[in-house]
Amino acid sequence: MHQVHGLNVCAKGAPPFLNIPGLRRSYDTPLQPMKRNRNTTPTARPQRRIVVPQPSPKRFYGHGIPGVDVEKLSGKLIVVEGADGSGRSTQIARLVQWLEGGGHATVQVGLKRSTLVSEELDHAQEGNILSRITLSLFYATDFADQLENIILPALKAGFMVLADRYIYTLMVRDMVRGMDERWLKNVYGIALVPDAVFYLNVAPEQLIQRNFAKNFSLDYWESGMDLGLSRDMFDSFLKYQALVERQFKRLQATYGFTILDGHCSIDEISEELRKKIESVLAE
Ligand SMILES: Nc1ncnc2c1ncn2[C@@H]1O[C@H](COP(=O)(O)OP(=O)(O)OP(=O)(O)O)[C@@H](O)[C@H]1O
Ligand SMILES: [Mg+2]
Repeated sequence: MHQVHGLNVCAKGAPPFLNIPGLRRSYDTPLQPMKRNRNTTPTARPQRRIVVPQPSPKRFYGHGIPGVDVEKLSGKLIVVEGADGSGRSTQIARLVQWLEGGGHATVQVGLKRSTLVSEELDHAQEGNILSRITLSLFYATDFADQLENIILPALKAGFMVLADRYIYTLMVRDMVRGMDERWLKNVYGIALVPDAVFYLNVAPEQLIQRNFAKNFSLDYWESGMDLGLSRDMFDSFLKYQALVERQFKRLQATYGFTILDGHCSIDEISEELRKKIESVLAE
């Protein structure tokens, strides 16, 4: 990937320095088992550089959670944001392998994963019975529970916390539904500022294809069907995702996410994420 107008975009075809006959990009070529030659001494394996994370100053966006000593949070909080089907799980699974291979303990969090309310939230979303504010506060509760009971203790213990979405998706969804931005910023003032936030940007048309290939359907909420944008789910998905993208771009100005081109190959995105996270670990 390289930068164009501040965005990370992937190379179309191999960069010139890789167009050497016989040399292919590492991710195009599965590793071949090495043949052993009994008459030679074994060659040393390439050493992987171990990066020991340095404690970096942390802060909350607003009022935070009382009684938390942010100086003691030595782990790193890495957030991967993006729409349904943008490739978050794929990338997080690879990051976990890579980080753990480098000796870092990891923990994963995400939306609707709290022990406190995730089941109830699922039940509530089977119908459309809650008011927007109640649903919003339900999600905020789910987030607060994970923040207090998983994210903060894990960071205190020096873990790498990988968040599959964070407060930004929650805020954007509510903003698209007409809720007050200042009110939302105040509610999510409890959130810790992550060490890095990556947004996988994928065009809605591509998201439809990926979601269909994976689930054979689109999600009611992720298609914005509650908003009445269109009776047709495809059409509603396209309109809703365009609104979401617009709000994400607005928030980007305030929160400064790193936007990655989610159309790049899985390997290219992983490589870019690793490079960027290595520099976060060394900060
Ligand atoms: N860069 C990519 N290029 C092409 N296909 C991809 C890419 N990344 C992921 N995919 C494919 O897209 C589908 C969705 O990926 P994934 O499940 O990682 O997305 P997600 O953002 O976690 O989705 P969900 O919101 O459903 O949890 C999968 O079938 C995956 O293999
Ligand atoms: Mg996923």
